[in-house]
Amino acid sequence: MEFADVNYINKKYKKNYERIFENNIVKNQLILGNDVNKFETDFSIFNHAKFCKTVNSGYDALYLALLFLRKNTKKRKVIVQSHSFYASFSSIIAAGFEILALDTSTCNFNLDIEQLKHYMSDDIAAVLNVRLYGISGNSIEILKLCKSYNAYFIEDCAQSHGIIEQSKKLFNYKKYAQAYSFYPTKNLGALGDGGAVLTNDKKLADFVCSYRDYGKKTKFEHKYLGINSRMDTLQASILRFKLKKLNYINSIRRKKIIYYSKRIDPEKILIKLPYLNINEKKLAPHVFPIFPKNKNKLIRNFKKKNIVFNYHYPYSIHNFKDIFGNKLFIKECEISVKMANNVISVPFGCHLKSEEQDLIIDIINN
Ligand SMILES: Cc1ncc(COP(=O)(O)O)c(C=O)c1O
Repeated sequence: MEFADVNYINKKYKKNYERIFENNIVKNQLILGNDVNKFETDFSIFNHAKFCKTVNSGYDALYLALLFLRKNTKKRKVIVQSHSFYASFSSIIAAGFEILALDTSTCNFNLDIEQLKHYMSDDIAAVLNVRLYGISGNSIEILKLCKSYNAYFIEDCAQSHGIIEQSKKLFNYKKYAQAYSFYPTKNLGALGDGGAVLTNDKKLADFVCSYRDYGKKTKFEHKYLGINSRMDTLQASILRFKLKKLNYINSIRRKKIIYYSKRIDPEKILIKLPYLNINEKKLAPHVFPIFPKNKNKLIRNFKKKNIVFNYHYPYSIHNFKDIFGNKLFIKECEISVKMANNVISVPFGCHLKSEEQDLIIDIINN
């Protein structure tokens, strides 16, 4: 039994990929070719955003959105939840901001809205909410707060491709952006690295477009310092093809997570699974982490039965105090620490058969 479905999906579409490879070789536009523009149009329409600008990773998408903000504000603090993938934190520091780290909500694994209300202030340049594990949380409430404090609102959507609920309303705020990763295991994954920034702000879109290509203004003129974060045309062609399958893939993933959620004994779990209480429009499950009361025992039992597992993530922002130094301020983050200490992710994806899910459920429950 494989942990994720990346292999299963890629095998299923192998013939389609081969045709895409051939077309790319014939067209000979290997970087930032026509399909990059076409994917940017497709993905922006899909998400109800005016602009989509692709880059080379989810990290670059976050970094460039934040860097644009850094150049346009005197404020220096960005709020983020304390439990997420490392890039949700490091991109903030790299763009020149300080982090104010708040807790993660047990209702949706996004930023804790009550804490955010408490700590939001005129000093906050941006709120970075992570739609962790493929759940979207209180985005509209966060939007309202950001509007009233004239702050940017950036959502890390690296794990939530396909959630478009309330997108029009969110993108209507000029200071709103979404950052995506197309890392191969993502629900919309490329065959290599990739990422994108979505926004209705033309200035941000133009900035990303220039900065990703050495800060170019024209072929031989440079406007910014710039980096190289151009998307390969081949990846864009693959993503264009896979975007058409995304809603279907997410619908299967939702069924599998509901199946798990209905059968796992809540008595064995430390942090309750929220999935049965989440509107399906706010759910595009990416991985399936659980927080068992006895993680070590579960690990032993998984090993005995050869069940592969992983951790999303065995750390919280506290683990990076040395790296982020005096740029990191952490408030009460009890849940984030509890998540990091107790998390274990079990096999999840379209490839799983119900007998395989039953076996995993049985091990967790017994
Ligand atoms: C929540 C989150 N943010 C950011 C990233 C960074 O994306 P990438 O690996 O494409 O740089 C990831 C990818 O794993 C992620 O899961």
